[in-house]
Amino acid sequence: MLRSSVLVLLYFLGSVSAQTNLTSLVNLFIGTASGANGGSGGNAFPGAAVPHAMAKVGIDVDMAPRQAGYVSGNASVTGISLMHDEGTGGNTNGGYGNFPLFPLTSCTFESCPVGLHARETLRAAGADAARPGYFTTTFTNNIKIETTSTRRAGLIRFTFPEEATTFVVVDLTNDLQRSFEGGSITIDAQSGTILLGGTYLQSYGPSNYTIYGCYDFLPQDSSQTIIEYGTYQSVSASSPTNITITPNNTSLFFPYTSSPSPIQAGGLLAFNSSTVLARFGVSFISSAQACQNAKEEVGDAWASAWDIVQSASEAQWENVLGRVIVDVEKEDSDVVELLYSSLYRASLVPANLTYENPYWNSSYPFYDALFCSWDTFRTVHPLLSLTSPREWVGIVNAYIDGWRATGYIPECRANTKAGYVQGGSDGMPILGDFAVKYGGMAQELGVPTDDLYQALVDTAENTPPNWYTVGRQNTAWKIFDYIPTNWTDPSGATGLPTREASRTLEYALGDFAVRQAALALGKPQAQVDKYGNRSMGFVNVWDPNVTSDSFSGFAQRRYANGTFAYSPPDACSPVDPTPHSCARGTDNNVGFYESSSWEYSFFAPHSMSTLVNLMGGPDTFVSRLDNYFSKGYFYAGNEPSFELPWLYHYASRPDLSALRIRDVVYTNFGTGINGIPGNDDSGAMAALLTFHLLGLYPVPASRQLLIGSPFVSAFNLTNNAFNTVTRFVVENFDSNTLTASPPNGSNIYVSSVTINGRPSDSICWLPFEDVVGGGEIIITMDGNATAAASRLCGEGDNALPDSLESGGFVWTS
Ligand SMILES: *[C@@H]1O[C@H](CO)[C@@H](O)[C@H](O)[C@H]1NC(C)=O
Ligand SMILES: *[C@@H]1O[C@H](CO)[C@@H](O)[C@H](O)[C@H]1NC(C)=O
Ligand SMILES: *[C@@H]1O[C@H](CO)[C@@H](O)[C@H](O)[C@H]1NC(C)=O
Ligand SMILES: *[C@@H]1O[C@H](CO)[C@@H](O)[C@H](O)[C@H]1NC(C)=O
Ligand SMILES: *[C@@H]1O[C@H](CO)[C@@H](O)[C@H](O)[C@H]1NC(C)=O
Ligand SMILES: *[C@@H]1O[C@H](CO)[C@@H](O)[C@H](O)[C@H]1NC(C)=O
Ligand SMILES: *[C@@H]1O[C@H](CO)[C@@H](O)[C@H](O)[C@H]1NC(C)=O
Ligand SMILES: *[C@@H]1O[C@H](CO)[C@@H](O)[C@H](O)[C@H]1NC(C)=O
Ligand SMILES: *[C@@H]1O[C@H](CO)[C@@H](O)[C@H](O)[C@H]1NC(C)=O
Ligand SMILES: *[C@@H]1O[C@H](CO)[C@@H](O)[C@H](O)[C@H]1NC(C)=O
Ligand SMILES: *[C@@H]1O[C@H](CO)[C@@H](O)[C@H](O)[C@H]1NC(C)=O
Ligand SMILES: *[C@@H]1O[C@H](CO)[C@@H](O)[C@H](O)[C@H]1NC(C)=O
Repeated sequence: MLRSSVLVLLYFLGSVSAQTNLTSLVNLFIGTASGANGGSGGNAFPGAAVPHAMAKVGIDVDMAPRQAGYVSGNASVTGISLMHDEGTGGNTNGGYGNFPLFPLTSCTFESCPVGLHARETLRAAGADAARPGYFTTTFTNNIKIETTSTRRAGLIRFTFPEEATTFVVVDLTNDLQRSFEGGSITIDAQSGTILLGGTYLQSYGPSNYTIYGCYDFLPQDSSQTIIEYGTYQSVSASSPTNITITPNNTSLFFPYTSSPSPIQAGGLLAFNSSTVLARFGVSFISSAQACQNAKEEVGDAWASAWDIVQSASEAQWENVLGRVIVDVEKEDSDVVELLYSSLYRASLVPANLTYENPYWNSSYPFYDALFCSWDTFRTVHPLLSLTSPREWVGIVNAYIDGWRATGYIPECRANTKAGYVQGGSDGMPILGDFAVKYGGMAQELGVPTDDLYQALVDTAENTPPNWYTVGRQNTAWKIFDYIPTNWTDPSGATGLPTREASRTLEYALGDFAVRQAALALGKPQAQVDKYGNRSMGFVNVWDPNVTSDSFSGFAQRRYANGTFAYSPPDACSPVDPTPHSCARGTDNNVGFYESSSWEYSFFAPHSMSTLVNLMGGPDTFVSRLDNYFSKGYFYAGNEPSFELPWLYHYASRPDLSALRIRDVVYTNFGTGINGIPGNDDSGAMAALLTFHLLGLYPVPASRQLLIGSPFVSAFNLTNNAFNTVTRFVVENFDSNTLTASPPNGSNIYVSSVTINGRPSDSICWLPFEDVVGGGEIIITMDGNATAAASRLCGEGDNALPDSLESGGFVWTS
């Protein structure tokens, strides 16, 4: 009773006002279209989850790609499972998908079709529905599935069309990848509890993980009874679909094998009711802890807990979504739907595995689905820094604690273990961002800044024996100031030697993050200078002799002797005329990761003035950006493209950024199932779209945000560490601009910015302290293109956004 009143209270505190129900504005199916046939699915997860949940409950379909288990459409459903990732690429079969349940009817116990493909069933057309904290679908045989959840537990309900013997399969072996390496199931028919534990492969990494589950099928406060139970298993690994059901058997055990077994096994329960409710808990520690999680988070009177659990989840979401408030009646309805759906997905991950760290004892939080920091450092973490610093503190502490345990900041934690490093070590800009924004109140927030700084320095200086899953090739970086191609490291350190040019660019940004943290945390000036200098190393891969489309100077691979190794700048762009390998593998002979030299040559967010100069000055820089977009080198579906539409700012042409961002948003994003141009990547795309819509873009590891042309006429931004609400008002807001090509004369251009009544020197950027300062920021728009072009970023010395080389990024903390 006490428990429910606490939850009900939370529910009311969480809602912003009686008529503002932001959760109802979230469309969970955006980005759930199939990525098959060359398309790039968003791989968004539409099931039940609380913010940063560990348990993400949803249905799994029998088609690939299906990284999040779910795909819109009519593919057959193989089960409803407890764990999923959000928006990842990687293994096309998906990650997690553990311990699926499946409802059956119209069979006799020993002949029920329990196997994965034998049982799979189509959904009735249009039956899928979801809102934050709840998912449902109905099969063509009219069995309805519903779920709602807490951080590590939840409820699943099956409603069968008629009163008959009804069955539920409890699947031990089939995760999404079918990567079972051993485990066990135990049925206690008396208590109705089923314990599971199994070892499965990571979806993006070289290792495996062990997870535990606990299902309860006999609620104390209901008459639901189990009338028959047993186990099932394949007769042999060579005949996995020939399955025997053993009534009354209560346990199965499969010893660990180092390669996945195709065997299918699990439990089968029969009921005489047309509704079957199950409570579940998950854990990475033990099945006992999984049961305890269910007890603690759902409670013992769980037959009557559904509404409480669902309302509590919804209230948590209402609270998160309410940190950005717009007038939902007044603003454009598509923009409102995109905004709240994006804010939702941007807070699904990283997953809070606090008290669930199976690897080391620590008083700090543990987070999963960091993968990859390469994806999330640009937008997910900066968005958390604006609205959700209290949540971010736990995540930042988890990054630091990864360094305590391994000596390096984690990069790509996937399914609890290190995944593959994509480029640099991009936890560095995340920790640098925290230091510059919250260094001053870190102690109050519980982040040890000495550890944070040491984590940065160790990751910047040391080289792990194998930088395949963590760390950087600092041996090379420190000798050459770039990452040479075709170089054998005399230290013996190994890793995937590819992506030399893009790694150089990313290591440079990583060192800038150390420089920023050193400055913010009051470290000696020599440290600030050292890492500042090292961060300029990106110029060392600039080959002035390469020309493409009559533009000269491109980032390229370089040998240890200084000679450049040529790759066509359009290689690995969407219009690459020649097939190239563009991922991590040793077959990548281009030097760039998931992007082209055309795109990556714009990457030095901490010293863009250097690139403007290398490219021949602001006018050439502008025509080069125009060419990049018009020739199709822009790859909206992946992270290196994120900041490109904003870069006109660095040529003092924010008017051109404003136009470009409208085009990018309306050409690539939408409210349909195809509404994300590539993998959502743990909310990276969602956070990007949020920034585009609000007219802000974060410069990594810095206190600057670029100012754009907002898609709404006003918004309030709440910061839960400073306890501030900053009001943004867009004067002369013009809804005619809400299109890919705003008509001439529509008010798309920022003409002035006023911060708390004081005119800003720059219309191109805002300092973090004002964005979260709790005052009022007025952005005034006009529609005169000629005036906008001549207005530049403003007149003062600081009008242009900062660049390190031209003396930027100096502040007093
Ligand atoms: C929000 O809307 C949903 C769906 O319409 C509804 O079930 C729920 O009760 C509402 N919550 C609040 C806090 O008004
Ligand atoms: C699924 O939908 C596709 C496209 O509408 C259709 O061609 C196909 O026949 C459907 N399959 C089933 C099993 O309903
Ligand atoms: C896989 O899991 C088993 C059992 O926990 C463990 O012994 C083994 O080392 C793991 N394999 C890898 C590659 O980590
Ligand atoms: C399944 O396995 C049983 C037991 O080994 C065997 O008798 C039976 O013929 C097999 N069925 C099929 C369809 O292979
Ligand atoms: C299972 O156990 C029950 C209760 O002891 C018994 O009635 C039933 O016959 C058993 N079923 C089988 C197939 O052995
Ligand atoms: C259940 O069945 C399996 C496989 O037939 C057997 O190894 C196991 O001992 C049985 N367990 C019990 C408790 O009967
Ligand atoms: C993570 O879980 C811990 C333990 O339940 C909790 O204290 C913390 O608030 C959670 N943080 C987030 C962001 O969910
Ligand atoms: C790479 O280096 C090796 C040994 O130094 C040399 O034999 C080889 O030709 C080089 N390959 C390329 C592509 O330059
Ligand atoms: C560029 O080309 C010129 C003329 O061929 C050559 O002298 C120069 O060394 C080249 N520069 C680089 C960096 O390769
Ligand atoms: C540098 O090394 C590369 C690859 O081995 C070679 O092709 C090139 O000729 C060398 N350049 C010089 C100046 O020796
Ligand atoms: C937004 O902020 C303004 C100014 O602080 C305040 O008056 C208004 O009530 C806020 N709106 C909401 C919905 O919080
Ligand atoms: C637009 O601005 C230009 C330059 O400031 C000015 O000459 C022109 O009259 C303006 N056009 C309109 C329609 O106001």
